[in-house]
Amino acid sequence: MRILFINGPNLNMLGTREPGIYGAKTLKDIEAALQIRSDKCGTEIDFRQSNHEGELITWIQEARDSFDSIVLNAGAFTHTSIGLRDAISASGLPTIEIHLSNVHARENFRHHSMIAPVCRGQITGFGEHSYFLALEACIGFEGGNA
Ligand code: DQA
Repeated sequence: MRILFINGPNLNMLGTREPGIYGAKTLKDIEAALQIRSDKCGTEIDFRQSNHEGELITWIQEARDSFDSIVLNAGAFTHTSIGLRDAISASGLPTIEIHLSNVHARENFRHHSMIAPVCRGQITGFGEHSYFLALEACIGFEGGNA
């Protein structure tokens, strides 16, 4: 099973970016820990980050041919991007929306997700564990449990 992990804007700044909210781990740290878990589970992951909305959309469009599911931390684009929403919808791949922080416990503008209606589900507020939980959820799809 192949899973595409996509990270949106400013997530390359993890480690130094508001550590009280997002934690002290860098995106590379999270990727390394996730890779170990993925190897244990027998899944294959591809882990990417971009600050550019168009690039994220292209990755989602292309995922159809090479991946079984997508895990997306769209960062701030979560709250604004109809383009990302349409790309998820068009891809037809099960997509999980994730966030490190609990977006519902933060500012009002973070309470609305443009992409949530076209995602299989949302995992929010568990720090780096949001990524690990999403991996579990993807494995659940394959087992027919979700
Ligand atoms: C985030 C939450 C978003 O509201 C914010 O814009 C981010 C990170 C998270 O992982 O908690 O950039 O997606």
